[in-house]
Amino acid sequence: MKVLITPSILSADLGHLQDEIASVEAYADWLQVDVMDGHFVPNLSFGAPVLKKIKTKLPLDIHLMVSNPKDRITEFAALGVQNITFHAEAVTGTEERRALIQAIRKMKATAGIALNPETSVSAIDDVISEIDLVLIMSVHPGFGGQKFLQESLEKVRDIRVKFPKLMIQIDGGIDTASAPKAIEAGANNLVAGTAIFGSKDREAAIKALRG
Ligand code: DX5
Repeated sequence: MKVLITPSILSADLGHLQDEIASVEAYADWLQVDVMDGHFVPNLSFGAPVLKKIKTKLPLDIHLMVSNPKDRITEFAALGVQNITFHAEAVTGTEERRALIQAIRKMKATAGIALNPETSVSAIDDVISEIDLVLIMSVHPGFGGQKFLQESLEKVRDIRVKFPKLMIQIDGGIDTASAPKAIEAGANNLVAGTAIFGSKDREAAIKALRG
């Protein structure tokens, strides 16, 4: 299964964002935008107005770390993004989740659901067979540069065994040490911020994560 490498712009030099994106474009597969509302997570990042200024040929992956994801999807979908992921902890009702998944798909994006480290896989039993992507957080969301939580590998393994075709994305503390473990566990989309934007040689950094 091809493993996608998805740089997260949260760790980029935001004062030179367009140049930072250009430095990974030829080597990355997707580009992740961490949308944080300062409520669902303690940090406040950026939204659609910033995204409107970004020029990239990379498919955009929107990670909504927000309490009301349904209020955000229209503005992002209007930008022609590849994927929109919401958090299972922010949308707990099955009908609500289904409605959100349908709304995202209606806007021609794939729908992902994310699990924080403290949330078990069983929390998404109701929709896991309908979703396009599951994002396993391997750090507590809100900030880049944190330590990889090894226990997230068990969740990846558990899902991969049951859903051989599902896109499993892992995000947080992904570097040359944790990437091979994540791939071995069954992740096929690795999100990395510091490991890529903290490196001078973006091509080599991305290549090293592919193993
Ligand atoms: C954390 C974000 C991650 C983060 C990854 O809340 O969702 O995408 O930017 O950064 P690193 O790779 O530095 O852990």
